[in-house]
Amino acid sequence: MAGEEREPLGVVGAGWVGLVTAACFAELGHEVVVRDIAPGRIAALERGESPIHEPGLGEALARNRQRLRYTEDLGELLEAARIAFVCVGTPSTPEGDTDLSAVWHVLDELDSPEEGLVLVMKSTVPVGTGERIRARFDALGLAGVGYVSNPEFLSEGTALLDVTSPDRVVIGAFADEDGRRVAAVYEPLGAPIVHTDVASAEMIKLASNAALATRISFINEIANVCELVGADVQEVARGIGLDRRLGPHFLRAGIGFGGSCFPKDASALKQLAANSGYHFQLLSAVIEVNELQKRRIIQKLQAHLGPLRDRTIALLGLAYKPHTNDMREAPSLVIAPRLLAEGAVVRAWDPVALDEARAVLGGVVFAETLHDAVNDADAAVIVTEWPELLELVSSDVRDAMRTPLIVDGRNLLDPAAARAAGFTYEAIGRPLALVPHPPRAKEPARGLL
Ligand code: UDX
Repeated sequence: MAGEEREPLGVVGAGWVGLVTAACFAELGHEVVVRDIAPGRIAALERGESPIHEPGLGEALARNRQRLRYTEDLGELLEAARIAFVCVGTPSTPEGDTDLSAVWHVLDELDSPEEGLVLVMKSTVPVGTGERIRARFDALGLAGVGYVSNPEFLSEGTALLDVTSPDRVVIGAFADEDGRRVAAVYEPLGAPIVHTDVASAEMIKLASNAALATRISFINEIANVCELVGADVQEVARGIGLDRRLGPHFLRAGIGFGGSCFPKDASALKQLAANSGYHFQLLSAVIEVNELQKRRIIQKLQAHLGPLRDRTIALLGLAYKPHTNDMREAPSLVIAPRLLAEGAVVRAWDPVALDEARAVLGGVVFAETLHDAVNDADAAVIVTEWPELLELVSSDVRDAMRTPLIVDGRNLLDPAAARAAGFTYEAIGRPLALVPHPPRAKEPARGLL
């Protein structure tokens, strides 16, 4: 975009969505002012340190250093920019509703915004939030301040690419002119732009994540049935995915979805429906299947090892998915305490999320290397499909383990190669190992064969 005059932009909240968005806008040639209130975060960004592990982000922030300014002061952002993207966290309350306190905090700070400012909501909010904010602006006599819903669909690990090459950009506006101003920011990307009303834009985000989560719980249930009837879910997914009406994506069976979006947004949509008088049965099932799926690892281990008391289990991969250090709703947070409750010794390893895991996982022993984790272990459980774990299938690892049992929660490894290398290998939804290992093992539990 060199040479083109591009509008300065503001980004409120320097988390995953905010920082990636800011970096991509700067890449498009905008001056971007990023505001955050977390202690130390702005200072760290000014030193050139990215607080999150996202491939390419550190480089993109460094490359666009001249166009990016960081501040703790919202006033400074509003002085520089007439379009402000709100990217603050909207976590779940204990009841599963959306906690909007960070959004309201930003609005409280906007005491006298100038006419012509457009506030763009990128944070995921319940349907109806835009309407409430519009009403609040109007009640304060701020009819000249615009509001646009512009939900974010980025996926951690590929976030920069998701923002710069989106499948679509969704823009919900009360006033067409506000929608057009925000759309102009995205036009250079050449993606389809869905102009719609604010409530529909808010629903598109929740419904997209609910649909993807539903596909995952669906294929996980198919996997569970495959185990009972001797089919291979990988083959089944391949066959399903070639049907153009269904497509190949989000059909990877495993131990369930985690992360900052699916669990929270599925629950938020279920609660939104309930609060509006509708019982969203399908979504309740999707959430329940996901919870049970994480726990199947324990049954699989017991099928081979019998009682897990004093067994050493290597938990491999702790982040909710590879290429991130994000521990939010990671399956490891459920599996580790369940193993500890069974009396097992848990050795946990992750190539990038060890520090983050230490902060949230109690009672486990953290291993600095993959080899330390599997050494003398009774089983290795693949929780997150880090590419590093492809190295598990080796004679070194097999010999280092007390019993060479691998339970692959992500169908990462090739079953034939793992078995040929001398491992007892169990995966999700694939034909089960015929000979349980080791001799102490009991009969496989009912329901697993
Ligand atoms: C997701 C959405 O993809 C994104 O559009 C939205 O903005 C935020 O939520 P993210 O959570 O970063 O992004 O990762 P994604 O790759 O979608 O995976 C989400 C979870 O589903 C992970 O726990 C992943 O392991 C799991 N998953 C994904 C499966 O179990 N099977 C699949 O086939 C795909």
